[in-house]
Amino acid sequence: MCGIVGAVLPKAGKTAEETVLEGLSRLEYRGYDSAGIAVLDATSPHPEIAWRKEVGKLSGLLASLEEQPLPQATTAIGHTRWATHGGVTRVNAHPHLSYDGKLALIHNGIIENAEGYRLHLKQQGINTISETDTEVVAHLLERAFLTEPAPADTKLTPQGFTVADLDPDNLQPENLSRLVRSMLRVTRDLEGSFTLLALHQDCPGVIVAARRSSPLVVGLSEEGNYLGSDVLAFASRTKQALEIGQDEVVVVTPTGVLVLDQSGNQILHTRATQVFPVNPAEAKRAFEVDFATDRVTKEGFSTFMEKEIREQPRAVAQTLDDRLDANGALTLDELRITTDILRGIDSVIIVACGTAAYAGQVARYAIEHWCRIPCEVELAHEFRYRDPVVSVRTLVVAISQSGETMDTIMAIRHAREQGARVLAVVNTPGSTISREADAVLLTHAGPEIAVASTKAFTAQISACYLLGLYLAQVRGNKYADEIADYLEKLQQMPARMQTVLDRYASHLGVENLEAIKSVLFLGRHVGYPVAMEGALKLKEIAYLHAEGFAAGELKHGPIALVEPGQPVVIIVPTPRRPELHRKVVSNIEEVRARGALTLVIAEDGDESVNAFADVVWRVPASPTLYRPLVDVITLQLFALRMAQALGLDVDQPRNLAKSVTVE
Ligand code: F6R
Repeated sequence: MCGIVGAVLPKAGKTAEETVLEGLSRLEYRGYDSAGIAVLDATSPHPEIAWRKEVGKLSGLLASLEEQPLPQATTAIGHTRWATHGGVTRVNAHPHLSYDGKLALIHNGIIENAEGYRLHLKQQGINTISETDTEVVAHLLERAFLTEPAPADTKLTPQGFTVADLDPDNLQPENLSRLVRSMLRVTRDLEGSFTLLALHQDCPGVIVAARRSSPLVVGLSEEGNYLGSDVLAFASRTKQALEIGQDEVVVVTPTGVLVLDQSGNQILHTRATQVFPVNPAEAKRAFEVDFATDRVTKEGFSTFMEKEIREQPRAVAQTLDDRLDANGALTLDELRITTDILRGIDSVIIVACGTAAYAGQVARYAIEHWCRIPCEVELAHEFRYRDPVVSVRTLVVAISQSGETMDTIMAIRHAREQGARVLAVVNTPGSTISREADAVLLTHAGPEIAVASTKAFTAQISACYLLGLYLAQVRGNKYADEIADYLEKLQQMPARMQTVLDRYASHLGVENLEAIKSVLFLGRHVGYPVAMEGALKLKEIAYLHAEGFAAGELKHGPIALVEPGQPVVIIVPTPRRPELHRKVVSNIEEVRARGALTLVIAEDGDESVNAFADVVWRVPASPTLYRPLVDVITLQLFALRMAQALGLDVDQPRNLAKSVTVE
């Protein structure tokens, strides 16, 4: 996973370092096992790499830099780590230096053939000091740099692009040419996934980067250029961004960027914020970052998670906003799959992981009910290994907040290879999943920073409902007035979500939270995935044993877990669906009879639960399919308050990272 930032500026000072540290603070959601930075001053007569790395969160690195500042610099790279190869130690933290200390490298991903190279390097007398795959690549790059023959000319591409075209003041053309060739040569033979950023002492004033199956975006500005795992890394410096494609190498100077394919052919170059593509189709890689970076602050809340829980009415409203055409028909502008194709599909498979998969499970009830089309939900990492039945008539829906979850990326690649159309429901425009899918439906939840997903979940459910209604519309499963009615009721949900927040955000009415050791969650129908989501939230941030069950499954085993005092959360469906409601109320009685402490979510006015509930969280009456949007809020708040009562770090729970970019 890991977060990566780079800054290349024309003048020496503290700005490059500050930019990178600020970027790391915004990317810390990607991992926080350790953090590090390397800087280089291209204006110095004797440029030397200076670096620092510390175990733990970014605050540790900041404290260390405060105590012992790094020299002024023009160029900086920084890394926040989620450990894959090697334990959480200082020596395993990034940046990694080459054996002669001249090259510094940061990396996101996993190099699968690193061990073979490690052995090979050892035989040549180059020993690694860390357990990481990254250090191996640092040595390989430096060895390639030193053995790369001096270029006959200083062209950087076969097309004749030169260092001068990047408009640098102080680049050494021969060295830059060698560094670029080394990056191309080494990455060609690497297996696995990587984003690599390299800084070289003999080639100051430039960052050379490469990516395969790991994210990398470039930020363009008049004042300098930036790199990041995502646009958050540099969004406070520039809104002009450039997508970097699979297997591409990027050369970044203060005034220009050169993008090459794996064979060294030029794809595009930039000058300040202007992009000059070789093929005009590539111009669309440039895009503007469309969110305000001030939304990436806690806005007065003590945690991002609380802020994001409270933002849900807005996140859902924004996701539903502006979806009707002049005739009142539902229209999904960004969808790039024709209505003819959507009419022809005979099944829907939703692929996703974690919370996004639970959102998919909720959506499935709506899609099957409205469209009368079979809909399966599959964990993305299981999907391709079970040899799924997928055809050109299958619509695969990938749900992802980050748009960078590797398991989901691999699932959609597999689906596309089988001929399926892939529609992505993502929260991050420009992300890998949104680029690789045939069509995108954006959730407009805004950046989600807390590791535990909250507003993305309710926005994903809302976007999937829009999709379900759209499919019902184009396939003729519902009349226009029915769709309008469903939509109108959906648009009423943000206000109901706000009611739940007003009631419970400050006070949940549960005492002695810190004494609770395990919690069971029960739900039926759409309440079942919500029960699992409630349990996941509690595991993630409160480190408590929690399990979500289908309420009907209780008697088939899990009821054995219930002993006096065991907290059981039960999601009671609307009494307007008596066949569901009655059964869940019976389930409450069953656990209550065995001494459980019952925490019940029930609609306003549903008095039938009073006799069996120790605590009742009331939610406004809502259509059955829309109840998850209000029910889940109480469960998110429950997990939040529990974690806080235990004194835990809510936003950055142990062992986790926001974006799971490795399989
Ligand atoms: C849980 C959580 C994870 C993510 C999962 C998928 O709170 O955040 O379970 O939902 O890792 O992530 P995305 O949606 O980015 O693909």
